[in-house]
Amino acid sequence: MNIIFLGAPGAGKGTQAEKVSETFKIPTISTGAIIREAIKTGTPMGTAAKQYTEKGDLVPDEVVIGIIKERLANDDCANGFILDGFPRTIPQAKALDEMGVKVDLALSIEVRDEVIVERMGGRRVCDKCGASYHTKYNPSKDGVTCDKDGTTLTLRKDDAPEVVKSRLETYHAQTEPIKEYYSACGKLKTVDGENDVAKITEAIIAVLNEIGR
Ligand code: AP5
Repeated sequence: MNIIFLGAPGAGKGTQAEKVSETFKIPTISTGAIIREAIKTGTPMGTAAKQYTEKGDLVPDEVVIGIIKERLANDDCANGFILDGFPRTIPQAKALDEMGVKVDLALSIEVRDEVIVERMGGRRVCDKCGASYHTKYNPSKDGVTCDKDGTTLTLRKDDAPEVVKSRLETYHAQTEPIKEYYSACGKLKTVDGENDVAKITEAIIAVLNEIGR
């Protein structure tokens, strides 16, 4: 099954993608994680992308479309995948169609802006494996290091309050219209993203089981 996770920054796409990926044994492809890794290692793409992510702007379409094209060609995508953070603009959604990718579901995790702002302040991430935690809602076992590899957790640079504001504006202006794009072809489903993490996972798995029937 080929699944797209939609939702505002901090809606819980990464958190839920990890759970669904484990359950259905399909990979998660996060353009944000790929871009952050490229910035960390200083590749030409990373260096070019940094100026956009730091301001909360989107990286140009042609760059992310190229990333996705290359990644989807990998063998591990043959039995399905979850796209977390792509597409994020109508041209990106159209590019996916032009690649011949059949989208089974575009799942939007719905969270109000005021809840997002509160969540972002408590997010802590592992720079090594990309795992995402929250100091209050989803803490790691010791609250300081990653459960998977023991790396000390840090704050993401783009979680600074002024950048979060800009990311939310970008989301409403450029990404939210994608919901209509997928709704028009009957692929859009929504879940309430303001529930507990486990309850949201249950709701998503119920939607996936329904579609898979
Ligand atoms: P990206 O990394 O994709 O960021 P994002 O969409 O802004 O999403 P986040 O990773 O911030 O949030 P999330 O929804 O995954 O939430 P999470 O599960 O972590 O992109 C970063 C940047 O890269 C973009 O700004 C852009 O510049 C660029 N980029 C990426 N893709 C691009 C594209 N296609 N085109 C152009 N540019 C692109 O959860 C957030 C927090 O909340 C965590 O602390 C978590 O523990 C907690 N939490 C999760 N669920 C719950 C819950 N139910 N209750 C309470 N807390 C919860």
